[in-house]
Amino acid sequence: MSVQQDELAETPKSVVITGGASGIGLAFSRHLAKLGHQVLVADLAGAEEAARDLRAQGWQAEGILADVTSEADAAAMVGRAEQAFGGLDALVNNAGLFTTLTLKPFEQISSAEWMRVMEVNTLGVFNCAKAASAALRRSGRGRLVNIASTVPMKGPPNMAHYVASKGAVVAFTRALAREMSRDKVTVNAIAPGFTLSDGVLQSGIHERIGDNARTAGRCLQRDQVPADLVGALAFLVSDAAAFVTGQTLAVDGGGVFL
Ligand SMILES: NC(=O)c1ccc[n+]([C@@H]2O[C@H](COP(=O)([O-])OP(=O)(O)OC[C@H]3O[C@@H](n4cnc5c(N)ncnc54)[C@H](O)[C@@H]3O)[C@@H](O)[C@H]2O)c1
Repeated sequence: MSVQQDELAETPKSVVITGGASGIGLAFSRHLAKLGHQVLVADLAGAEEAARDLRAQGWQAEGILADVTSEADAAAMVGRAEQAFGGLDALVNNAGLFTTLTLKPFEQISSAEWMRVMEVNTLGVFNCAKAASAALRRSGRGRLVNIASTVPMKGPPNMAHYVASKGAVVAFTRALAREMSRDKVTVNAIAPGFTLSDGVLQSGIHERIGDNARTAGRCLQRDQVPADLVGALAFLVSDAAAFVTGQTLAVDGGGVFL
């Protein structure tokens, strides 16, 4: 039996993936749909197009335009998943501001820019978790997976707002794991290393960082791509991960040891 058939042995889950129409999020949407899960792609743009492409492969997917910073959009996203799939079992908080940020010393970050990064990367995660909470608790096998980063552990310079926002995501994950455990909802985070996502490739940030800096310090000396992250998400969403909660799983080729 192949690995994919084995993973399909469990009952499929209904999953919302924020920022699921491009980059790492699209890789997540494709992989979970391929495994038989019902996927609602939620994004600022391109959500329906991404869902249509997934359906064209014979997989179950819907799309919705949603801004994670809006409480109304977060509620609509959850409502749509419940209406389309009959419930909601998993939320993947992947939407985030990173690839559009300009690297700069912290003294040059304006308070408006700081607040905007916090708004998307922390308030957005909070909004979506809150909107999904009742449905995830009802599921009986709810899964919440937050996409953090290894930057809070490494503390790279010139992106202090981003580093702080992802540190908050790790802390929030732990707090929610305790609060949601009564209803068997697991809450975990994935911490990717620097990944050649669509946004990274478009922004050219990978060239500014340089080949050596991208892979230096990793056990596995190569660039990370979105496909490197999908197995960790599939596991955390699966029934097999029912006793794993409050954890942050670094998927970065062995760059940090948590
Ligand atoms: N690429 C990396 O090196 C890296 C490393 C660690 C963590 N991450 C995290 O992984 C996640 C995805 O990163 P990526 O590199 O694929 O980024 P990306 O810029 O390629 O894609 C981000 C997606 O999120 C969506 N999005 C942004 N703001 C949104 C909002 N307010 N509401 C809804 N959707 C919104 C965008 O439209 C886009 O589809 C982010 O949370 C990022 O911080 C990325």
